[in-house]
Amino acid sequence: MTTTTTETTAVRGAVGTAHTRVEGLAKVTGAARYAGEIPFADLAHGWLVVSTIARGRIRSVESGPVLAMPGVLTVLHHGNAPRVDTEYVGMLGAPDPTCAVFQHDRVPSLGWPVALVVAETSEQARAAAEALVVHYDQEPHDIDFAGGHPDAYPLDGHLPAVAEKGDLEAELTASAVVLDAEYTTPEEHHNPMEPHAATARWDGGRLEVVDSNQGATWVVGELAKLFSLDPSAVRVRSEHVGGGFGSKGVRAHQVAAVMAATVLQRPVRVVLTRRQMFSLTGYRSPTSQRVRLGADADGRLRALEHRALSLTSTVHEFIEPSAAVARVMYDADAHHTTNTVVRLDVPTPTFMRAPGEAPGSFALEAALDELAEKCGIDPIELRLRNEPEKGPVSGLPFSTRNLRACFEEGARRFGWADRDPRPGLRREGRWLLGTGTAAASFGAGAAPSTAVLTAEADGTFTVRIAAADIGTGARTALTLVAADALEVAPARVRVRIGDSDFGPAMIAGGSMGTRSWSWAVLAAAKELRERLALGTDIPPEGITVRSDTTAAIGALAQKERHSFGAQFAEVAVDVTTGEVRVRRMLGVFAAGRIVNPLTARNQFVGGMIWGISMALHEEAVRDRASGGHVGADLAGYHVATHADVPLVEADWVDDPDPDDPVGIKGIGEIGIVGAAAAIANAVWHATGVRHRHLPIRPDRVLQAGTGRGSVGERDAGHRR
Ligand code: MOS
Repeated sequence: MTTTTTETTAVRGAVGTAHTRVEGLAKVTGAARYAGEIPFADLAHGWLVVSTIARGRIRSVESGPVLAMPGVLTVLHHGNAPRVDTEYVGMLGAPDPTCAVFQHDRVPSLGWPVALVVAETSEQARAAAEALVVHYDQEPHDIDFAGGHPDAYPLDGHLPAVAEKGDLEAELTASAVVLDAEYTTPEEHHNPMEPHAATARWDGGRLEVVDSNQGATWVVGELAKLFSLDPSAVRVRSEHVGGGFGSKGVRAHQVAAVMAATVLQRPVRVVLTRRQMFSLTGYRSPTSQRVRLGADADGRLRALEHRALSLTSTVHEFIEPSAAVARVMYDADAHHTTNTVVRLDVPTPTFMRAPGEAPGSFALEAALDELAEKCGIDPIELRLRNEPEKGPVSGLPFSTRNLRACFEEGARRFGWADRDPRPGLRREGRWLLGTGTAAASFGAGAAPSTAVLTAEADGTFTVRIAAADIGTGARTALTLVAADALEVAPARVRVRIGDSDFGPAMIAGGSMGTRSWSWAVLAAAKELRERLALGTDIPPEGITVRSDTTAAIGALAQKERHSFGAQFAEVAVDVTTGEVRVRRMLGVFAAGRIVNPLTARNQFVGGMIWGISMALHEEAVRDRASGGHVGADLAGYHVATHADVPLVEADWVDDPDPDDPVGIKGIGEIGIVGAAAAIANAVWHATGVRHRHLPIRPDRVLQAGTGRGSVGERDAGHRR
């Protein structure tokens, strides 16, 4: 792959060459402003007050003393806040009352917004919010999540709850080798660098919200429905976004800001604290997953069962579809996958990087490794023997499936052929060493978008699209795509994003942003070039065309559309402290045409680092007594930092999507998929002990011991 960063002056072929971020200079010099720092005249500041109980009712909000505090303008709560439509059907289908704040006195979880204090300054608002006394009638809460929960039920989310073929019990009985294991993953939080922030104001009859989100179109749609406005009466801008990972949709703070701006008739800003983000912006549910595999002696799967349990709140159904990844990955004569959920007194979870695939691939890919050990077959060979010809359950053809190429290239570069499969044999001082691998997949989709493209009189081009660059490099990718489509140098193209007035567009989500937006940009460029080919002079206001890909994307044939990848990890396990250190990782991906190798590598590596974090560090711990978090901050919730991240390499094989006009598939999420399993499998190879519960903490490693020389059949228990 090419990794030069020199500014290209070539007129063609920008896609596929490395470009630094077009807004990079503005970001590193501080010129790029984020939602919480854009100035407004007459700005007031709102501070959310959240519940200190996990279940019950608000008896009273003692606003009086707080209203007398310096600078305080108002206190909004369920008794006085504007009413919103709580039964609207949002982008994600069912009504989500999570964001319909201050509409009733019920408290469904700890950290639920109960009031917004608005003052002249942020400091005054915070002081008043901290002084506000709220009385509750507390009820007993239940936050206990565990596998086999009696109240679990199957739930469709963005994927069907159940997919089945074949007679599972019969195939398990007929299998020479059977694996039956339970895996768990903890509650995990997005924790983007930039906290959520929104400023709302009325401009004439129009609502304007300056925000940090993953899709201006999305936020407009939800706010319009909540406040019963025509979508054309709402404008959302979100120019720079410091990370999202699934958490930056419509949240309580935007809704509260709009309410306060409506009541006060002046601009109101609400910024969340890191601690508030733990209860107000969604999270990944903990999971409990049972995997049963049955295989012939040669490793061919006869039976595959994956049952996953996640949790949701009492106010909204959201499911983490961990069991669905097997529907893509492996064929088996009997193939049963089910996603179930249980409702508890906790905040509503949401999409978080590779929702479903991230925890699901941990269980499935660790189980495959265990099966490989039982069969005495190399784990890569086992996977290749179970490669499906078509969708294992759907029967649909794959658009492309280059998993084999990923494993071949990855194994070669990682040095897999030299690996002794026996565990617990390699030692370096107090460190036991091991290597592991896992497969990855993530959906490759496209959604309708519109783009506006202008040929300017000065010979430059302006693209306007309501895309979001949440740190991925999307703005730069779109610049390269537009440049190629117009057959001009990228320097002649300016891309403006993050404004709902540019017309509806896909969100930065589902790994579908760049593909969906590029399609719309390409369609507009095609029309513009046709117009320009007529030789008309460009008037001072330029020539502008608009595109809409709804019809083109609607015409796509039904296929199994996914990216694939092979993850490799080498770990060292300290036998005296139980500490696991990742020494190196390699990920090789087949993820469509790579638009910008520089930022694409960032995305893959970033995902893999999340995998390190997931395998070894991340775990939100809830206190059973209060129902809230212990250590809801970046000191208490450990994410991998520089010292935890060794040599991480990502690369890719040629895999253009034949049905995409640019060949793109999407790379936002696949980097994390399989990464935690590769690390867990390496920990087994190092120690001889299977760790089926994430994160693999030192205390768990110590408690489980190390197999040292013996082939481990021991399971590190699920211990708090
Ligand atoms: Mo992603 S979890 O679709 O932002």
